Amino acid sequence: MSLERPAPQDVIVVGASGDLSRRKLMPALYNLAASDLLPSRGSIIGLAPGDLDDERFREFARGSIEEFSRTGFDQESWAGLSSRLTFVRLDEDGYQRLAQRARESERLIYLAVPPSAVPEIVRKLGAAGLASGTRLVVEKPFGRDLASAKELNSTIHDIFDESQVFRIDHYLGKETVQNILVFRFGNALFERVWNRDAIDHMQITVAESIGVEGRGAFYEEAGALRDIVQNHVFQVLSLLAMEPPVSLAPEAVRDEKAKVFSAMRPLAPAKTVRGQYGPGAIDGEQVPGYREEPGVAPDSATETFFAAQVEIDSWRWAGVPFYLRTGKRLPRRATEVSVVFRDVPLCFFEGTGVQDLRPNHLVLRIQPEEGINFSFVAKQPGPQVSAQQVSMDFSYRDSFMTEPAEAYERLLHDAMDGDHTLFAREDSVERGWMVVQPALENPAPVCTYSAGSWGPPEADELIAPRTWHLR
Ligand SMILES: NC(=O)c1ccc[n+]([C@@H]2O[C@H](COP(=O)([O-])OP(=O)(O)OC[C@H]3O[C@@H](n4cnc5c(N)ncnc54)[C@H](OP(=O)(O)O)[C@@H]3O)[C@@H](O)[C@H]2O)c1
Repeated sequence: MSLERPAPQDVIVVGASGDLSRRKLMPALYNLAASDLLPSRGSIIGLAPGDLDDERFREFARGSIEEFSRTGFDQESWAGLSSRLTFVRLDEDGYQRLAQRARESERLIYLAVPPSAVPEIVRKLGAAGLASGTRLVVEKPFGRDLASAKELNSTIHDIFDESQVFRIDHYLGKETVQNILVFRFGNALFERVWNRDAIDHMQITVAESIGVEGRGAFYEEAGALRDIVQNHVFQVLSLLAMEPPVSLAPEAVRDEKAKVFSAMRPLAPAKTVRGQYGPGAIDGEQVPGYREEPGVAPDSATETFFAAQVEIDSWRWAGVPFYLRTGKRLPRRATEVSVVFRDVPLCFFEGTGVQDLRPNHLVLRIQPEEGINFSFVAKQPGPQVSAQQVSMDFSYRDSFMTEPAEAYERLLHDAMDGDHTLFAREDSVERGWMVVQPALENPAPVCTYSAGSWGPPEADELIAPRTWHLR
């Protein structure tokens, strides 16, 4: 992130009274203000159909910052932000009034609204003459299958060209996800073995311990494949599998990521596992099953767990399986990549008291306890040849004495700056849907797992004879 203020522009949040605005966007704008990283000039305009005005919108923003800002609340920084905050109610001529209120020639418009509202809002922005000079941020989910993603792209492109569109996936704003590129392409040692010659397989796990948290009705329409795999997991996968870009220019990076999506084989339904949590216990506390959650049908077939084996048909990765897994109500919250290297060709420690000879193993911890762990075998001290698994560990907190910054700050700043590197491009999004389409059209049966377990046993069978690193 360049540490410069973006050029003068208005920042417009459509859906400013919603949950995303409250938990993420207002605190992120506040922390950018506190770091002197808001545009040097311009208003921050909230829009929503509900009954707010300037005063009540400022109260809403202040409350959300006090509750969710990672740096706490400071009166001086708040004064810098609040003097810019203003609200436009989306009644009949709301977009016309927005056009009058947005005084700068450039603007960032962030659509923090339900996905169903996006097409109509895009058309109204166009009709109000707000197409030119706009950078448009669109939230996930971007479509719910290939056809709807294409239709959404087409609707947006009736008004905005691709250079104006920023499809946000907040995983790409995480320091640890960006570090995948630095780790791979800044360390010759690892890049040399980052291929089918040395790597046996990779695993990506996105585990949540929470359930649907009162959002059962929303989740019924989504499920784990749409909610996590097609976007967050695929974005991480593309960074792990891409070729070195010719430069760090946004399109150079996005070109290489797009090639990974093009080389991914569409999911084979037989190589996927769908699960749904039943009742169980997490941290000693009893929790209900998914079908007992409010807003969920008692016979729901929506998956809260999804695992798949993915193949990438490229010279670098032919024959190397990538195992992906995500689920709710798993034992703990953890997102990690596990890279398992090939075994030694010949083990001559057999029968010498060797206790634990496993292949080298690299773990990239995306969250929490962000860091990297590399495990290898070392000789145990003593007169006998006896080997044991040991590890080297890097922790962000210990090495840099700081917590990684909030993803939305970085992403908002980059979008204001017009930098597309960390945003998903049209071709990658559509190709991602193409890859998951067979699993949407021909879904595997849903297997039940107990809340607090690592998912259904079928997920262990999927990866066998290998095993999941987190289990
Ligand atoms: N919440 C999160 O943590 C999170 C995380 C990642 C992605 N997202 C994505 O962010 C988007 C917003 O989610 P959310 O959780 O903030 O939803 P939400 O709490 O339901 O808020 C939706 C906001 O949009 C406004 N709105 C509704 N219909 C509108 C319309 N036709 N035109 C203009 N504004 C309209 C609402 O205004 P009223 O209240 O006045 O109706 C409200 O301000 C969704 O795409 C979601 O998938 C959310």
